[in-house]
Amino acid sequence: MPENIGERKARHLSICVDESRYSVESGSAGFDQISFVHRALPEVGAEDIDTGLDFLGRRIRMPVLISSMTGGSDQGYEANKNLARAAQEAGIPVGMGSMRILFRKPEVFDHFYLKRYAPDIPVFANMGGVQIRDFPHTEVTEMIRRLEVDALVVHLNPGQELFQDGGDRDFTGILDGIARFCEASPVPVIVKETGFGIHPGEVTRLLDAGVSYVNLAGSGGTNWVTVEAYRLDGTMQAAADEFASWGTPTAPLLAAVGRRGGRIIASGGLRSGMDVAKATALGAELSGLALPFIRAVVSGGVDGVIEVTEKLRKTLETVMIMTSSRTLEDLRRVTLLRSPGFDAQVRALEQAAGSVEDTTG
Ligand SMILES: Cc1cc2nc3c(=O)[nH]c(=O)nc-3n(C[C@H](O)[C@H](O)[C@H](O)COP(=O)(O)O)c2cc1C
Repeated sequence: MPENIGERKARHLSICVDESRYSVESGSAGFDQISFVHRALPEVGAEDIDTGLDFLGRRIRMPVLISSMTGGSDQGYEANKNLARAAQEAGIPVGMGSMRILFRKPEVFDHFYLKRYAPDIPVFANMGGVQIRDFPHTEVTEMIRRLEVDALVVHLNPGQELFQDGGDRDFTGILDGIARFCEASPVPVIVKETGFGIHPGEVTRLLDAGVSYVNLAGSGGTNWVTVEAYRLDGTMQAAADEFASWGTPTAPLLAAVGRRGGRIIASGGLRSGMDVAKATALGAELSGLALPFIRAVVSGGVDGVIEVTEKLRKTLETVMIMTSSRTLEDLRRVTLLRSPGFDAQVRALEQAAGSVEDTTG
């Protein structure tokens, strides 16, 4: 019998947070291959710096978001609540994990009704691309309205599904499903991967299909095939292990995709304020972090998350001063030193952009 979604979510959460037993990250997202040019005479003061921006009609304090994660288990509910409270205090957007379970277990509605803890910041609901293709759209839009969220995040995760017992095996028609949903959606739609990245050609197709933002969610951080590998054995586990470094690293992917009118979100392996500053300089509108926030909330509650956000903000602000950037737009104009290896990856990704065929028919 396929396992129940709540149990699976609880197990995922414990694998992700127990650093002493499990190692779930795939390595470098590539931000170490670029650096800023330091300004010794920046001619700005700390009071001149504005790390804030407008996002989905609300003012947020810095270009950081708490990536879509949990819900559907008791531990997940506790984490969700505290992530939302911390996001409200820090003035940054917060996502929640897949609400698929809500359609089977309506009694967990409270796990996902985060707006009550975070009335002033953008809150995102989350669902898989396969479900958006298959579920009646009226049911999804009704749930979005009840949750009072500011956007729907649609996740794409073929790698994880392929290593999950009872996971999805058919990935046809998802772009078309997303395009149809965008027409009916009462809120903006954001599409993300979960740590393997989105091909530059697919980014174009998603934006053309009506998606408001694409969150690249590249490799370098949490690897969901590796997470699944800890729940497998024998041949399946050995096959999963071969994907330990699968995926397109976030930093070169972001550099190749470019700014796209402010519709690109960077995530996947971002671990510091320096990564956030570099992602912003490469063109990201926002930077998302998942694993650092889930670990902080499980070990330290709201205060633990606030500690992480304060450190991110301090580093971002310091980088802005030392590159003479008063605003995030200024930071996007500074010169970056890029390693030859980084540039070669970016060129290859740019060339690959045209190689994705139109599959929408
Ligand atoms: C415990 C946990 C649960 C997650 N659940 C979801 C989910 O339900 N939906 C989703 O889109 N992404 C989910 N993710 C993926 C993250 O949003 C993110 O894309 C991925 O972990 C890569 O970011 P990171 O390297 O900062 O962890 C989850 C991540 C973690 C750590």
